[in-house]
Amino acid sequence: MVQIAIDGHSSCGKSTLARALAQELAFIYIDSGAMYRAVTLFFLENNVDFFNHHQIQEYLAKTEVDFVLAPSGNRTLLNGRDVEERIREMEIAARVSPVATIPEVRRKMVQRQRELAQNQGVVMDGRDIGTVVFPHAELKIFLTATVERRVERRQLQLLKLGMVVDYEEILHNLYERDYIDSTRSDSPLMKAPDAIVIDNSNLSPEEQLAIGVLLASSRMKII
Ligand code: DC
Repeated sequence: MVQIAIDGHSSCGKSTLARALAQELAFIYIDSGAMYRAVTLFFLENNVDFFNHHQIQEYLAKTEVDFVLAPSGNRTLLNGRDVEERIREMEIAARVSPVATIPEVRRKMVQRQRELAQNQGVVMDGRDIGTVVFPHAELKIFLTATVERRVERRQLQLLKLGMVVDYEEILHNLYERDYIDSTRSDSPLMKAPDAIVIDNSNLSPEEQLAIGVLLASSRMKII
């Protein structure tokens, strides 16, 4: 099955591109970051100590992450409960990166990501998709944008969800997540050697989609 991997830093527009590209190609879209956010929510709700491996194993065994397609788009399910809005809140954004450094968590999520993509063409976005999850993906894109554009986009995204968060707080959160995501020892964020870099700072969603479709069609001759 055809795999398209989109990696990059937080709030680079990965999900916008991945969702649109999946729709264009009639593939499924999987937001791997949502899965780490859902695990983080579950750990917080159950007061799991992030340094206690026994507790982590115990609660990971009770964590099931799934997606359903609703008219409003993909919804993330945590043990059958729709947590799509909840996992987008700043509280989760502020705690997710440390959880995503835990090797047991990564092992379980990577296994689940491969399972979800088993029987159909997939566009998946995240940090380690082209390097770890799908190292043989037909197309790998590494998205990047200036930090100013990333903060603006994140602020707008939160505003749409009814959350007013100031520029400095978002900037601080992005820097912190970039640092943790890029320096962790287990599958850190990095560009796969065969990934194509797209800087979308000055691209509209339509323009970046057009580039994605062009790349996909040249790699796969499926359109
Ligand atoms: O893409 P996002 O902002 O929703 O991701 C949330 C966090 O999960 C982010 O801090 C990095 C982590 N993540 C990861 O480690 N590996 C992935 N494949 C996707 C996300």
